[in-house]
Amino acid sequence: MRQGFGLGLVALGILLGVASLLAYTVGTVALRQDAPYFGVVAVLALASGATLWVINRQQVKSSQLSSGENGRIAAMTRTVGGRTHARGIPYVLPRDLEEMNRLDFQHYVLRQAFKGNFVAPVENPAAILDVGTGTGRWAREVAPLFPKANVIGLDINPPPVDQKAEAGGEEQRPPNYAFVPGNVLDKLPFADATFDFVHMRLLVLALPHDRWPFVVNELIRVTRPGGWVESVEVVEDQQGGPAVDRIMGWVAAMLQRRNIDIADGSRVGGLMQAQGLVNVSIRRVDVPIGAHGGRVGRLMAADILNGMQALRGPMEALGLTTSAEFDRVYAEAQRAMESPRVRCVAPFYIAYGQRPG
Ligand SMILES: C[S@@+](CC[C@H](N)C(=O)[O-])C[C@H]1O[C@@H](n2cnc3c(N)ncnc32)[C@H](O)[C@@H]1O
Repeated sequence: MRQGFGLGLVALGILLGVASLLAYTVGTVALRQDAPYFGVVAVLALASGATLWVINRQQVKSSQLSSGENGRIAAMTRTVGGRTHARGIPYVLPRDLEEMNRLDFQHYVLRQAFKGNFVAPVENPAAILDVGTGTGRWAREVAPLFPKANVIGLDINPPPVDQKAEAGGEEQRPPNYAFVPGNVLDKLPFADATFDFVHMRLLVLALPHDRWPFVVNELIRVTRPGGWVESVEVVEDQQGGPAVDRIMGWVAAMLQRRNIDIADGSRVGGLMQAQGLVNVSIRRVDVPIGAHGGRVGRLMAADILNGMQALRGPMEALGLTTSAEFDRVYAEAQRAMESPRVRCVAPFYIAYGQRPG
């Protein structure tokens, strides 16, 4: 009797240890609802602070999906040129409030430029994933469009609105939206064939050239047969004149040090085809930057100029430019964008494809 009790305690200890380890290292535990000991492992995982993702596209409340300690896997930070950057990942943009505001602003400009939030012919999805969700704005807007779907935003950094909501702040999440922390350079924390629609936008400054095939493969793996994967990426600004070209040159040199090639933004559709997606559509959309593009052009110029400022710290730290030189060239780029004769564009590539059924 005593021996049995002792063995039981050892088994419980092992289970708790495994659950804590999962929670600590992964932060997310993905479980099939029909898995043996589902209840026990789920309770242990949640008790250990892990995010619990119930797979097989079951309807679950978003509160069950969102960890109370979203920051756990967020990258450590460092300060470069007065801006806060994540440490330990290749991503070059900051992760501070100013950048969050820029991403929200950019989201609204892109929604206007593209006349919507996505183009894939998605119908009655039960689960949607937004990879590298940033502020989560895209996912939070898509959630009410598909109220029956579970919509997940994944990012290495928790969006400020989710941190606020976790703390009982004013920001209300749509009831079918949840944030899940994750690193897209690792295996995504979801089972195969979990989502009907997987969306990823503007990760080109985060993914080294040789990791793109892995990342696209992961997007496809978590998409169910018949479901859709959509990618929206950009390549370097074009036709902006000498100052814009100069800044783009510094950006490219900085990215090269991290093995990131901004031209990969144009190659995602090709990777989708190579990895077996069908009904692939690849479209280039030149979004105007500057006065020549009317309202969208002016808004886009504000976004791009702010983005250049966000990158100056790392470029100066690498010795690619100096503060004085950057200020001078930046002012010239700003003047160019104010001229209706300069037809600067941001070439976006929108690619989507369907996982064969
Ligand atoms: C330019 S923002 C785009 C955000 C959002 N997709 C949008 O379009 O507004 C890139 C996002 O990717 C995230 N990110 C960078 N590296 C990542 C990684 N390795 N895993 C997950 N997210 C990452 C950043 O934290 C940031 O939120």
